[in-house]
Amino acid sequence: MRIIECADYKSMSRRAAGIIAAQVVLKPECVLGLATGSTPVGAYGELVKWCGQGDLSFAGVRSVNLDEYLGLAPTHEQSYRRFMQENLFDHIDIVPENTHVLNGLAENPETECAQYDELIASLGGIDLQLLGMGHNGHIAFNEPGDDFGLGTHVVSLSERTIDANQRFFASRDEVPRHALSMGIKSIMGARKILVVVSGADKADALCRAVSGPVTNEVPASVLQLHPDVTIVADSAALSVLKAGESR
Ligand code: F6R
Repeated sequence: MRIIECADYKSMSRRAAGIIAAQVVLKPECVLGLATGSTPVGAYGELVKWCGQGDLSFAGVRSVNLDEYLGLAPTHEQSYRRFMQENLFDHIDIVPENTHVLNGLAENPETECAQYDELIASLGGIDLQLLGMGHNGHIAFNEPGDDFGLGTHVVSLSERTIDANQRFFASRDEVPRHALSMGIKSIMGARKILVVVSGADKADALCRAVSGPVTNEVPASVLQLHPDVTIVADSAALSVLKAGESR
């Protein structure tokens, strides 16, 4: 596991974008696993900029996103499909048909999940999976206590995640209670994993994920078992880990 420390959110974003761009340059037809949430927004902004300048092309890239709220239409303001369109896809030269996000309105969510795993396999697997991390150590919507052996599946959101996500909705009641999410097994199948973490409020979770025991109580701790993980974090997010190292 490589940990790259950056001074602040902006430099973390640039560094993470550089790693994604390197993947695209080295393998123009790669499969990128993408994440939503506030942390990757800055990195997506850099990629949009480089693409606009003609320094990078996503014309051959295929993408699969980690998760989607169950019950939200792709056009819903808070759907992850819409997030991806607004923050990345609408501003780069990726072929729309090559972007894949789970369908939150799928008639049969279990079938949608099974077909998503088949889709990932048919694309040849994920070359680089981008992840953010929740305050409780969740990755995608894999919450503490969830089984590490699951592929894409339907999840119930924890109260803490509902709390964290209510800032995007008019009220807490409007936050969906369920989501479709790639499982730990699907994530661990990626050839490379890139995790972006920012802010002191994530410092405890990051420390537990990186230096604590591998346990499903801290889903991100499973990444210790993956052979090619890079964590790009700002100094605030690394503060607890570094305090422990200097003791
Ligand atoms: C997003 C996702 C989530 C977020 C996590 C961190 O697709 O799967 O696991 O990465 O909740 O979110 P932010 O970046 O908003 O703190």
